[in-house]
Amino acid sequence: MNEDDVDRLDRNRRHFLTVATAVTGLAGVGAASIPFLASFKPSARAQALGAPVEVPIGSMQPGEMVRVLWRGRLVFVLRRDETMLAKLQENLDQLRDPNSEVVEQQPNYTANETRSVRPEYLVVEGSCTHLGCAPLEDFEVRPAESWNGGFFCPCHGSKFDLAGRVYKGVPAPTNLRIPPHRFVRDDLILIGQDTGAA
Ligand code: FES
Repeated sequence: MNEDDVDRLDRNRRHFLTVATAVTGLAGVGAASIPFLASFKPSARAQALGAPVEVPIGSMQPGEMVRVLWRGRLVFVLRRDETMLAKLQENLDQLRDPNSEVVEQQPNYTANETRSVRPEYLVVEGSCTHLGCAPLEDFEVRPAESWNGGFFCPCHGSKFDLAGRVYKGVPAPTNLRIPPHRFVRDDLILIGQDTGAA
């Protein structure tokens, strides 16, 4: 065997080892993936179809907000305290649609003063009705700025009150959208499903 033959043999051996390792690796990945995909696929499909999302609210304190995803959309659940609820009666003349008259923005059972099924709990999509940015919560009351707390969109400055009602003079044309939802129990909200009534 000359030097060229040794070289070629060595190259062939290295190639075999590389392919063998890759095949073993793929077999391992395949075997490990099957139960994972099998167990997660229905849930992923259900999510894509818009399966309802349960939100436990039993431990939420007044003034606290949680964020959840439903159909890939951000949803805010805010437990409003007494002061927050009282503020909803103020600044009405500064709001574009204080009485929720744009019917597409909420189920009819939330077209009320608080835009909610139960006044204490606001369930609202966290998507600005201008171009879809996520508004930020800003619950600090600042009378000098006529700000009673609510949501502020950092993209182009749209403002919404503590019921997701849009202020006049901002780019967002409508109130934040309220998703269908219902109370399964006092401590559990289901987003994405309702009974058509509060
Ligand atoms: S996306 Fe919110 S103000 Fe433009």
